[in-house]
Amino acid sequence: MTTTTLAAPQVEVDAIDPKLFRQLLGCFPTGVAVVTTNNADGSPAGLTCNSFSSVSLEPPLVLFSLRKASSLLPTFVESGTFAINILSQSQDALSGRFASSKIADKFEGVAWRKGPLGTPLVDDCLASFECSVHARHEAGDHVIFIGEVKHMSPGCSDHALVFYKGAYMMLAESLRKLVIDGKLGTADIDEAYRALYGTLLRLACDRATDAEIDAIEAAVDGIEQSQELHALPQRIDAMASFFSSIAQAGHNEALRLMAQTMTTVLRERMTHVIPAHPRPDVFPLRRKVVKCLRARDADGAAGALDELISTLRKGSGAPLPA
Ligand SMILES: Cc1cc2nc3c(=O)[nH]c(=O)nc-3n(C[C@H](O)[C@H](O)[C@H](O)COP(=O)(O)O)c2cc1C
Repeated sequence: MTTTTLAAPQVEVDAIDPKLFRQLLGCFPTGVAVVTTNNADGSPAGLTCNSFSSVSLEPPLVLFSLRKASSLLPTFVESGTFAINILSQSQDALSGRFASSKIADKFEGVAWRKGPLGTPLVDDCLASFECSVHARHEAGDHVIFIGEVKHMSPGCSDHALVFYKGAYMMLAESLRKLVIDGKLGTADIDEAYRALYGTLLRLACDRATDAEIDAIEAAVDGIEQSQELHALPQRIDAMASFFSSIAQAGHNEALRLMAQTMTTVLRERMTHVIPAHPRPDVFPLRRKVVKCLRARDADGAAGALDELISTLRKGSGAPLPA
């Protein structure tokens, strides 16, 4: 089979917003690799890459794609060989180093050796694949390098470094561990909820669009509709969506990221620590939050949230939602 470039379909299509495109691509978690090769003088060169993918088992083929604008494109083209070094979760600094255009010698201070094929292999990776270039395809602003694996070596048995939504996943993982090990106390979590979502609600009163308030209300509907005991996963989703739509409506990217962290805490607590039982007694309080948002009443919205948290904690003897 030969390479085919298909003609674009003759239908009306959306203009693809590059920022949103990047953001949505980030929903697909990937591993992270340092792809290396040799300069003409034999010195090592490399970059951080998450476009690595397996292609074929027989013959053994893998690929990565390289930005056409990369200073390393001529080096990869001329060398004809490359190595994929799969990073472990403790190699995040290495990932940052090989992604920086400001560091002239990326290998300075990095432990590495030459593999049987002569390509630079980074020490302490999870696995390394040495390849000869099997094919190269131009695709938009990238060049896809397909490599035939000539040698491979297993490495350490640590977890992989995972890139997800523009960040390494370790933060989420370590948070999860803190929650599951009971090291994040309820009082601290409640205080964080009051501070963070109180601020977000105040901002949302100024900045939220009507559609964003509709989304918060839809999440409240979702919570109320998932009250059967067995509907815990739906209840967790609806609860997470209530808080994340408040975060969205606050229009502050840094606070939204913090809120994303709190959503991880919420999910883990509801899943592993507190089997969140239905609490119809707090239904009116979430409705009050929405009502105050619609009225652009910042004190009212933050107050209703405080009341919601206090009521949940006082509870009726039943375990509390996170
Ligand atoms: C997690 C992560 C994944 C990346 N994946 C790729 C990739 O697949 N292809 C690519 O060309 N650049 C990728 N980059 C960017 C390059 O690492 C970066 O542009 C390059 O190494 C900068 O160095 P240079 O200026 O010396 O080329 C990635 C960066 C990060 C942080």
